[in-house]
Amino acid sequence: MFIIALANQKGGVGKTTTAVTLASGFSQHQKKTLLIDLDPQGHIAFSFGVEKTPGLYRWLVLDESLEDVVQNVRPGLDILSSDKRTESVKRHITLMDFRETLLFDRLRISEYDVILLDMAPSLDVLHINGLIASDWVLIPTRPDAMAVDGVKEILLTMGEITQRGHQFAGYSILPTFFDRTTRETVTQFQDIVHAFGNKVLPPIPQDTRVRESAAYGKTLWEYSPNSPAMTGYQDGKSQVGGYIQIVDRLLEVIDG
Ligand SMILES: Nc1ncnc2c1ncn2[C@@H]1O[C@H](COP(=O)(O)OP(=O)(O)OP(=O)(O)O)[C@@H](O)[C@H]1O
Ligand SMILES: [Mg+2]
Repeated sequence: MFIIALANQKGGVGKTTTAVTLASGFSQHQKKTLLIDLDPQGHIAFSFGVEKTPGLYRWLVLDESLEDVVQNVRPGLDILSSDKRTESVKRHITLMDFRETLLFDRLRISEYDVILLDMAPSLDVLHINGLIASDWVLIPTRPDAMAVDGVKEILLTMGEITQRGHQFAGYSILPTFFDRTTRETVTQFQDIVHAFGNKVLPPIPQDTRVRESAAYGKTLWEYSPNSPAMTGYQDGKSQVGGYIQIVDRLLEVIDG
């Protein structure tokens, strides 16, 4: 089992979009996949066109079994949904003895091949739980002036967690909202590559279909599999970036 956390304290950088698109990609590659929504906004259920439920609350506070609270949304793909009751999950965890390793302890005994954690843009107790539970941290970031700073903040938090004895298998940075026609974006992208080198994945193009697909409750694989966000952009003879390439890259990591 391999657990990937989608993290960035900054809002609106593409965490949820990436989580949804990768989770459906992995499940299409015969990986039994679970996507956990750690954000009270509950956008994961919405993205698959199903009602949000207090799944996380029932699992962690009411102590129901994981299999009873997940929703199967596509073949081989389950979600554990959040809603506003996820706020009381945080209060509940804060009062516990082993509060920061709760998710880690609970997930180690589950039977999925891949688990993705979609984190809220905050640094609360669920965020720390998510990082401690994860093998790999995927950091989506917009190519803007604050991007490098935002990524460094997460790496600092990961550093603190490592000092307390948790081993990450690794991390990668995923530039999103990439617009190669805008010099500003290209420059910021180069800054990210300069700062983080080979940890930086090929970028995901800015693409209006992304917002549309979420609004229709469809994944990009269903709504527009040939759109730029999926296929990347043409650079000479090869395609660069796009979620299809990112799924393949991460499958290599997962299969070790
Ligand atoms: N590559 C893209 N091109 C165009 N729009 C995008 C792209 N990726 C995401 N979006 C849109 O941008 C908005 C924010 O994306 P998303 O919800 O994935 O970010 P997030 O990091 O999860 O936000 P939050 O921090 O609030 O949880 C959404 O409306 C989404 O549809
Ligand atoms: Mg989100």
